[in-house]
Amino acid sequence: MHLTREEEEILAGEKGESRRKAMELVVALGKIYGADGLVDITSAHLSGASYKTIGDGGLKYLDDMAKGGAAVSVPSTLNPIGMDRKRWKEMHITPHFAEKQLEIIDLYGKMGVRTTCSCTPYLGDNIPSAGDHVAWAESSALSFVNSYIGAKTNREGGPGALASAILGKTANYGLHIDGNRKPTVIIDAETDGSVFSYSMLGQAAGMAIGSGIPYFRGIHPTVDDAKTMSAAMAASGAVALYHVEDVTPEAGNFDISGLEMIYIGEKELENAYSRLNTAEDVQLIALGCPHLSHKEMRDIASFLKGKKKKNRDTEIWFCTSAKVREDCPEEVKIMEEFGLVLADTCMVVAPIEGVFKRTGTNSAKAGNYLPTLCSQEVMCRDISGLMDAVI
Ligand code: F3S
Repeated sequence: MHLTREEEEILAGEKGESRRKAMELVVALGKIYGADGLVDITSAHLSGASYKTIGDGGLKYLDDMAKGGAAVSVPSTLNPIGMDRKRWKEMHITPHFAEKQLEIIDLYGKMGVRTTCSCTPYLGDNIPSAGDHVAWAESSALSFVNSYIGAKTNREGGPGALASAILGKTANYGLHIDGNRKPTVIIDAETDGSVFSYSMLGQAAGMAIGSGIPYFRGIHPTVDDAKTMSAAMAASGAVALYHVEDVTPEAGNFDISGLEMIYIGEKELENAYSRLNTAEDVQLIALGCPHLSHKEMRDIASFLKGKKKKNRDTEIWFCTSAKVREDCPEEVKIMEEFGLVLADTCMVVAPIEGVFKRTGTNSAKAGNYLPTLCSQEVMCRDISGLMDAVI
């Protein structure tokens, strides 16, 4: 693996201990995956932000890095944390958890990370351009920027993305190489055009192919459709890049003749849907996985307007970014008659397992993770199907 003289100096510790540690990690990953060298990145998006998922070990790691003077050298945003910074008490969060969580945020802030705490930074806070090399963690977000925007990132983990953010470089392998971005399978797909059907399509596609690079035909996803489909495919499989004929920027770049073809239609979507449903009733309805966009906030508010919440025992969380919440005061007012509009967090990285046992979601990604990471039984329906129980 070729390193420039400056990169060798960083690796030798001549530019400080935290940069040495970062270089050691990036080079180690590069050697494992056969990188020929490093490539400059224009941005990073970091996961590993919730105290629930990183615990005291992760907190100590961040503390050591910050005390060692670590600082990011490219625009870097942060994934959701375990609570809304302002409304954590309403989420049943303990003071101990809140204190630790705020320490984590503080440490990322000290390293220069923008503590936006959202999994949809590509909707406003951190938007790569087509062709940019970036180092993004968060499987849904990195799949979206790879596929829908045409930026280039591998499926980074939290420490790897932080190390790349510090260096402004990542190892040049995998999806940074154009030849590795070729489709591996054609999926002829049919949806009913709803966001929910795109979530089920992502679920079915991930289940069918596992990892690989699908080339979809027959669909025309909008930003919100692609957002939920990216999340679902990365959760039910390990898909980090897909192409959609006549929609995504690189779809026309490859010869797809001779590729295996599979079909996903009504029967396959129904099968995906039935796999995700294990609960008949719910204690929490949580929307916003990935975080709600401006349009989704408008759609939900207009769906709820004029209705009344009848079942007061079921809590409702609408998860979005702080920016979207701030931009949508009228929608927030309507939605808050039904539940909490939360920023910074989500139903999966918040410690809901101590409070709820059965959760409703319209997201296949959440449907995959709620049982394993949050010990929840799940009801997976579209928004009106979920709301039927409470309004
Ligand atoms: Fe985002 Fe949480 Fe879903 S991080 S993609 S809302 S699991």
